[in-house]
Amino acid sequence: MPVLRPMLPSDVDAATEMILSNDWGVRRDFLAFATSQPACTPMVAESDGAIVGTGVGTLNGAVGWIGTIFVDPGWRGQGLGRAITQSIIDRLDSGGARTLVLVATADGRRLYSTMGFEVQTRYRILEAPGFATLPAGAPNAVRAFRPDDVDGMVALDRIGSGEERGHLIRRFATPDTAKVLPGPDGSVDGFVIRAPWGGGATVARSFDAATAIIDERRVKAGPEGRVRVGLLQENEDGLARLEAAGFTPQWAAPRMVRGEPMAWHPEWIWGQFNHAIG
Ligand SMILES: CC(C)(COP(=O)(O)OP(=O)(O)OC[C@H]1O[C@@H](n2cnc3c(N)ncnc32)[C@H](O)[C@@H]1OP(=O)(O)O)[C@@H](O)C(=O)NCCC(=O)NCCS
Repeated sequence: MPVLRPMLPSDVDAATEMILSNDWGVRRDFLAFATSQPACTPMVAESDGAIVGTGVGTLNGAVGWIGTIFVDPGWRGQGLGRAITQSIIDRLDSGGARTLVLVATADGRRLYSTMGFEVQTRYRILEAPGFATLPAGAPNAVRAFRPDDVDGMVALDRIGSGEERGHLIRRFATPDTAKVLPGPDGSVDGFVIRAPWGGGATVARSFDAATAIIDERRVKAGPEGRVRVGLLQENEDGLARLEAAGFTPQWAAPRMVRGEPMAWHPEWIWGQFNHAIG
C-alpha cells in the first residue's frame, strides 16, 4: 500500500498535476493554501515517489472539514480513499473536532456513509448573468472591506456557519477581495470574500442583506459575466426569490456530517470558499 504522510509545499505541483491529469480541476491554489495554513492538515499517499492520493482536513474550531479526497484511478477500490479519509479524521479528532463535515461527490458518498457520515442537507448552486447597473431601488450600502470589519464578520459568521472561520476571514479578506454590508453599531449584516481560487464565501442575515451583496457582485461582473451563489436547501425562500431574480440551478451536492449536531443558520449562507472548507 502507498504510504500516507502530510502534504508539504514541495508536493503541491505533483499533487496538482495528478488531480488535473484525471480531470478533477486545477487545485493548485487550494493545495498551496492548505500546506501553509496551520488549521489545515493536508495529506498525500505516496507510492514509489509518486503522489497517488490526496486529502485535506481543516479545523474550524470544533467543526472539522474534510475535502479534496482524491485517489489516482489506478489505485481505486483497494481501501486507499478510506485510509486517507481516516487519517484526516484522526487528526481532526485529536485537534478537538466534535463534528465532521464534507460535501460528497457520487463516488465519495458511498464510502463516507460506511464511515458514519449521514446526509445533513444539500448545497444548491445557482448562476445568473451580471447587470449593467444596480436594479432601480436596490439597497446600495455595500462597501469594500476595512480591517475593523473583522470582528463583526467573525461574529456574523459564527452564528451563520456555526464554525470558527476567523482564520479564513483573516487570511482572505482584503479591500480588493471582500465586500461588507455594515449593520448598526459596528456590526456586519453581510459579507462576501473571494478566495484566490475563486468562490465567494457569503454570509448574510437576511434576504435583503444577501441581495445587496449579490447585486453588487452582478454589477461588478457586468452583463457579459456570470455570478454563482451556493445556498442550502433549507433556504427555500432565498432559493425561490433568487430564481425569480434570474438565477438558474446548476448543480447540487449532499453535505454529510458525523458527530455532534451543530448549531448553525443554514439560511444565512449564500456562497462558499469552496466545497472542501465551507
Ligand atoms: C471517492 C474515492 C476517493 C474513493 O477512493 P478509493 O481508494 O477507491 O476508496 P476505497 O478503496 O477506500 O473504497 C472504495 C470502494 O472500494 C472498496 N474496497 C476497499 N478496500 C477494498 C479492497 N481491499 N478490495 C476491494 N475493494 C475494496 C470499498 O469497500 C469501497 O466499496 P464501495 O464503493 O462499494 O463502498 C475515489 O473514487 C476518487 O478519487 N474519486 C474521484 C474524486 C472524488 O469524488 N472524491 C470524493 C470527494 S467527496
